[in-house]
Amino acid sequence: MRLWGRNKYHMYLALKKNKNLLPYLPVTKMWHKYHLRRMLLKYKSVVIKPNNGKQGDSIYFVKDAASGYEITIDNNNYSFRTIQGVQNFLECQFGEREFIIQQEIELSEIDDRRFDFRVIVQRKSVNKPWTITGILARKGEIGYKITNRRRHGTAIPFEEALKHSDIAHGIKENMEKEIKDLALEASKTLGRSFPDQKIFGVDIGVQKQGKMFIFELNRWPLLGGFKSLEDKSQYNKIMAYKGKKAN
Ligand SMILES: Nc1ncnc2c1ncn2[C@@H]1O[C@H](COP(=O)(O)OP(=O)(O)O)[C@@H](O)[C@H]1O
Ligand SMILES: [Mg+2]
Repeated sequence: MRLWGRNKYHMYLALKKNKNLLPYLPVTKMWHKYHLRRMLLKYKSVVIKPNNGKQGDSIYFVKDAASGYEITIDNNNYSFRTIQGVQNFLECQFGEREFIIQQEIELSEIDDRRFDFRVIVQRKSVNKPWTITGILARKGEIGYKITNRRRHGTAIPFEEALKHSDIAHGIKENMEKEIKDLALEASKTLGRSFPDQKIFGVDIGVQKQGKMFIFELNRWPLLGGFKSLEDKSQYNKIMAYKGKKAN
């Protein structure tokens, strides 16, 4: 199916058709108060984000805590006694925007900060194979559950992140290949829905035990994170692949 624009839910459905990707996709639904109740019972914590969102904008984490419910947005926390309170708060915030609701993944950490990976996958033209041209990690700021640079996250080299992370020993060694294979498979799959697409920025989270999840594929990935690294070789490679001079 051909897709347009930036619609996280449609992209999720397209990825989900590939059975190999299924174990790597957090369960996602369009917002409905019914799903909030069901998913909180099942997963204890969920993430609610705009269907057309970017750069960590308007991302709500809702947790079923012993004494009630907690919402985290950026580095702010709000408590609610009832699920009805949570629902009213969220629906007030939504306005006219469409939202999706997703199982929250408990991410591995570096120095008590969550982190995830950004993989850049490119192809020269539709008939050419997809290739990995960049990979880095993004560490969230203290108190934030999101890692976006726009929300004070920092880009760090992939190897450095692995080294300092709390991912179990014995798993780290094979991680790079697994992440790259996953990003490639996801790009191949979604590339079929976007025949003119030549670049994807794949967001992948990892748990302490090594289990991986794809958060999203970005059709217009920002490259500032790669540019901010001391070693500019990946940035230069990505720009060269695009056929543009690095600046
Ligand atoms: N289901 C989830 N579980 C845990 N963290 C998440 C989840 N979804 C998103 N995040 C965190 O929030 C960040 C932003 O979410 P993402 O889906 O990439 O939206 P955006 O388009 O705003 O970047 C992710 O990079 C990740 O750090
Ligand atoms: Mg993202």
